[in-house]
Amino acid sequence: MQKIQQQILELRKKLHYHNRRYYVDDAPEISDYEYDQLYKELQALEAGHPELITPDSPTQRVGDKPAGQFLTVPHAKPMLSLENTYSEGELRDFEARIKKLLPGEDLEYVVELKIDGVGISVVYENGLMARGVTRGDGFSGEEITQNIRAIRSIPLSVDSADPAAGAFEVRGEVYIHRKEFERINLEREENGEAAFANPRNAAAGSLRLLDSRVTASRNLRAFFYYADFPPEAGITTQDQALAKLDALGFKTNPNRARCRDMEEVLAFIRHWEGKRDGLDYDVDGMVVKVNRLDLRERLGSTSKSPRWAVAFKYPAQQAATRIKDIVVQVGRTGTLTPVAELEPVFLSGSTISRATLHNEEEVARKDIRVGDHVFIEKGGEIIPKVIKVILEKRTGEELLFQFPAECPECGASTYKPEGEVARRCSNSACPAQLKERLRHFASRAAMDIDHLGPSIIDKLVDAGMVRDAADLYSLDYQRVASFDLMGEKSARNLGEAMEKSKGAGLKRLIFSLGIRFVGARAAEILSEHFDSMDKLAEAREEDLESIHEIGPKIARSVVLFFRQEENLKVISKLKEAGIRMEAVKQERGQLPLKGKQFVLTGTLSSMTRNEAKEKLARLGGRVMSSVTAKTDFLVCGEEPGSKLKKARELNVRALEEKELLEMIGEALS
Ligand code: IVH
Repeated sequence: MQKIQQQILELRKKLHYHNRRYYVDDAPEISDYEYDQLYKELQALEAGHPELITPDSPTQRVGDKPAGQFLTVPHAKPMLSLENTYSEGELRDFEARIKKLLPGEDLEYVVELKIDGVGISVVYENGLMARGVTRGDGFSGEEITQNIRAIRSIPLSVDSADPAAGAFEVRGEVYIHRKEFERINLEREENGEAAFANPRNAAAGSLRLLDSRVTASRNLRAFFYYADFPPEAGITTQDQALAKLDALGFKTNPNRARCRDMEEVLAFIRHWEGKRDGLDYDVDGMVVKVNRLDLRERLGSTSKSPRWAVAFKYPAQQAATRIKDIVVQVGRTGTLTPVAELEPVFLSGSTISRATLHNEEEVARKDIRVGDHVFIEKGGEIIPKVIKVILEKRTGEELLFQFPAECPECGASTYKPEGEVARRCSNSACPAQLKERLRHFASRAAMDIDHLGPSIIDKLVDAGMVRDAADLYSLDYQRVASFDLMGEKSARNLGEAMEKSKGAGLKRLIFSLGIRFVGARAAEILSEHFDSMDKLAEAREEDLESIHEIGPKIARSVVLFFRQEENLKVISKLKEAGIRMEAVKQERGQLPLKGKQFVLTGTLSSMTRNEAKEKLARLGGRVMSSVTAKTDFLVCGEEPGSKLKKARELNVRALEEKELLEMIGEALS
């Protein structure tokens, strides 16, 4: 036994070391194959002796069960954002402000890359990772410990003998390599899922997955730039904190500099302007921080951002290229948008081959012609735009762009509504519009239908199988499979996803209809106010306008939408298909289980944990992960764990599954 324990400890130590060499130091010493062998050896030993498994064993990174929902938890200290600066002058102003607040102090700065990812906070207790949380709104975030554990560059435990290691919090940025981003998108497209717009979105999406096994497959990484070490650690500056993070096994970004004055800061920032494109990951600027922690303390923060740090944003990068062609795209509401097809050019980390030209007037105003050499720019937004024509390069061969009088997709006439700049296709059955509407219907914020990505939608529309959103619910999957539109497994997955979406709820349903001007927020307000589709459909313009936050534009658009016969037809088809058309009845204030805290343990037989959580949440209850004196009920499924013992000790009432069902039933009746 002792010998096995010894073996296990040694294997863990080796794996821990090589994991660090690979993921943190980027300097592997053994091959993947050798690593896997060690890993398997450890797995086998642990399988024979489960009592020897510890939570920081390398085999315990990824759980084998998907999580339920994520809980929202507060941050110990708010995670503020940084004020942005855009010029050297603004950076000098930053320094002047600080000097005024700290007269006579010798200032030193640390300059770091601003990693374009997702902010996280990770708490360690007694040397073990205890909790990982997203930045969220800065005051509280989602508890995603399972997924943070799945990021192999983040240590599960640190040397507990280190004076810094008692209890501390680290903050950093989770990001994804550009190559990995491309790989994920290819995979998603093959599966008929929507591609991520940029690496940051891919990182954010991967962090919020309920199944940490999928998160692990995304190869997320993290750089840490902040730590709240206990005083015993004796850390007094940012560069010491970063060095300590390194020593404890966290990955910090090596591209940083300690600068003795603002001139050095500016020099380092200039140095990185051209170099940042050469990195494997996106950087959206630089961060300048006061080095001494006691001075930071004295400077303090505003409600939004610390006074001791500032972000510097490089000007948007431009590139020169040539317009090969101008095509017109049809959007979900029939808007025609001219798009320039470009000779591919590399800009800010990706290859660009299209740029938006916004509308007819813009093309005329900038006098953009097919064949023109132009400057394009990638700003904060994802789609690059054409800034201006390089007139000196005109040869006279360029062609004026004629905006088509007919819709390029369906040939119907186009029109320009009063007071609007965009031309529209007049045919609401236009396949291009339909495809866009369906994409919107299926999107995350709308009905959130997995496995119904753009390419599948295109195929279904082109094959004539889907003419409106409701048709999606009566698809003949055998036919779909036999038409080679997708494999049998994908068809089955899609069927299940469609079924699940039926309960998406009124708010999502209203949003998914794509009523002009009705965004996610307006949909939420409308669903709260009218609590059923029928009531909304009957609302008069003045009823709508009387709602706080709903203006005349939205009111008019909603009324117009429900006046159109074809829209009513789709809604009644959706109703027949069994899509929920009502909001959940109770108002928040009168929820029957309001304020009650539940903890679940063991396996439930009539529903999954997730379903139980959702049901309880709908009735106002809260499901927490561990039993405390504040817990009202412990719900026990089969084989309840140690939580039952704890509940007994604390006199917390234990419920059998049957009792839970009764409670839910009563609350609903
Ligand atoms: S320091 C009080 N350092 O940028 C804020 N932030 O706009 C201290 N970020 O929420 C943040 N790289 O998610 C800091 N080297 C870096 C960073 C960095 C990326 C992110 C972080 C923060 C956001 C602020």
